[in-house]
Amino acid sequence: MTSPILLITGASSGIGRATAELAAEQGYHVALAARSADKLEALAQELTERHGTKAIAVSCDVQDWGSQQAMVKQVLDEFGRLDAVFANAGRGLDGKGFAGSDPDEWREVVLTNVLGPALTLRASLEALKSSRGHVLITGSVAGRRTLPGSFYGATKSAVQSMAYNLREEVRGSGIRVTLVEPGLVDTPFFDSPRENALKAEDIARAVVFALNQPASVEVHDMCVLPTPPIDD
Ligand SMILES: NC(=O)c1ccc[n+]([C@@H]2O[C@H](COP(=O)([O-])OP(=O)(O)OC[C@H]3O[C@@H](n4cnc5c(N)ncnc54)[C@H](OP(=O)(O)O)[C@@H]3O)[C@@H](O)[C@H]2O)c1
Repeated sequence: MTSPILLITGASSGIGRATAELAAEQGYHVALAARSADKLEALAQELTERHGTKAIAVSCDVQDWGSQQAMVKQVLDEFGRLDAVFANAGRGLDGKGFAGSDPDEWREVVLTNVLGPALTLRASLEALKSSRGHVLITGSVAGRRTLPGSFYGATKSAVQSMAYNLREEVRGSGIRVTLVEPGLVDTPFFDSPRENALKAEDIARAVVFALNQPASVEVHDMCVLPTPPIDD
């Protein structure tokens, strides 16, 4: 079988980058999308040299519809098809609750975490219908738990709903939809290192597990959390 083509948003860092590394190691061709073109170019070169896979860098701001359309066009121009999309780009915020947060920051978070993946779906679904492909979306455990004052959690609840509603929309098309809901992961998402946290590679293994299932198997939801520390 020819190598599947995987597009990853938020591939310049953290979970997206780790997923690109593991997928390339396992023979996927990867399209790496984010705003940091320099980081993506370096990663694409590294993956190509190390794994002999085809890896391309795609500059994209997920908030922007034109940018997302250009991203998918670049992938189709380069590879001729698209087999899987990992809509993973996202950001956190300086959570000061509903009484204290900066409304402008809320706008940025909604545009990135909610509009961003929605535009990724809108731009890529036609190609995925042709390939009977796979959509994976990064939510968060914060989207399924009650966290006091968490606007971020509200955006990830929207992502969960998006995944569930998309699955019903594409039912019968052969497209599979996987919602990935990580717990705490030690990535540049945070300003300082996190303890008792997962590594980005832990989520990458879960994503690639879902990707590697046969076409007859759809992994629906993967909530992946760090094991609680042992009480001594
Ligand atoms: N870390 C955690 O504990 C955790 C837990 C649950 C869920 N998540 C989710 O996991 C996903 C990845 O986060 P991470 O932990 O890997 O964080 P990260 O290391 O900060 O990575 C975030 C990625 O998103 C990209 N991005 C942000 N805004 C963008 C935009 N407007 N357009 C295009 N790309 C954009 C960033 O690239 P550029 O800056 O280069 O554009 C970067 O590649 C996010 O959706 C996050 O909400 C994280």
